[in-house]
Amino acid sequence: MPRVMIARSFDGPEALELADEPTRAPGADEVTISVLASGVNPADAKLLNGVWGRNPSRLPLHPGSEVSGVVTAAGPDAVGPAGPIAVGDEVIGYRVSGGYAEEITVAASSVLPKPASLGWEEAAGLLLTGVTAFHLLEATGVGEGDVVIIHGGAGSVGFAAVQLARLRGARVIATASERNHGLLEAFGAEPVVYGDGLVDRLRALLPDGADVALDTVGTDEALDASAALVADVDRIATVAGFERAAEIGAKRLGGGAGADPGTELRMGARLPLIELAGRGELTVRVARTYPLAEAAAALALVGEGHPGGKVILLP
Ligand SMILES: NC(=O)c1ccc[n+]([C@@H]2O[C@H](COP(=O)([O-])OP(=O)(O)OC[C@H]3O[C@@H](n4cnc5c(N)ncnc54)[C@H](OP(=O)(O)O)[C@@H]3O)[C@@H](O)[C@H]2O)c1
Repeated sequence: MPRVMIARSFDGPEALELADEPTRAPGADEVTISVLASGVNPADAKLLNGVWGRNPSRLPLHPGSEVSGVVTAAGPDAVGPAGPIAVGDEVIGYRVSGGYAEEITVAASSVLPKPASLGWEEAAGLLLTGVTAFHLLEATGVGEGDVVIIHGGAGSVGFAAVQLARLRGARVIATASERNHGLLEAFGAEPVVYGDGLVDRLRALLPDGADVALDTVGTDEALDASAALVADVDRIATVAGFERAAEIGAKRLGGGAGADPGTELRMGARLPLIELAGRGELTVRVARTYPLAEAAAALALVGEGHPGGKVILLP
């Protein structure tokens, strides 16, 4: 029977346990995927910690919202965003629920073709962060010639945002730990260390300020520096620091009260992002893989805040 990681309480990643669960046969517009890699995201820890509610009727929890794998069964009306889906197709599943598993049955609308040029691990780590970065750029109208500050440029969302902003012809200044500066420079961004004195370091590089600031970190420091450097608050957006963003009037994107989920825009970005990654124009950096059974350790690494790229589970 396929193995799946579940949690029977809201006690965080440590409550995860391996279970044998039969995979549901696909309905008419569903497919079953034999999972070859699962993306691990900070949101999974939030689910397991009950950040989004502790309703016991939601137990057991099935974390994991992005996977890559091969279709093993398909309903008669299984048509995804790129067309009909058949057994044997190599696919990416996003957004799914219960991705920490060897096999899952999901709506065909969540299943997209994986380019042969994209590895399983990269494919499993592409879309959650990719669509989030795309939303940040769209919400602030990043375009040719814009000067864009990206907080957390070496993080998974931030690194995607750096690359997408460069593809749009923007000048990018990105905050990161010193060890990540070479990476950012290689992808055309100007790195800056975060921490005390951030505004002064940014002003030294940007005496006329910046057009846009994108926050993937969520600290008051990142949002306050954004407000200090960007005159138009409509061009400041965060996916992580909602309280401070509300105080300064910046845009809040994603799940949460008062935030714009941007669901249609994000789902519409999936195919273009896959095409970019397939052509090698958008890189997913994989930091580390873990066996499925070690999902709690994988989430602990992500929780430290400096994973150095995507963390992936291998069933
Ligand atoms: N709202 C949404 O729709 C949405 C979607 C996806 C993610 N998120 C949120 O976005 C955040 C980032 O996600 P992710 O997957 O990109 O995480 P990640 O890969 O773990 O990246 C975290 C980044 O934060 C940086 N960082 C850590 N502490 C910092 C500090 N004190 N000041 C400045 N930078 C700091 C790290 O930089 P260094 O490694 O260079 O030190 C790292 O690049 C998380 O809070 C996540 O929950 C929200």
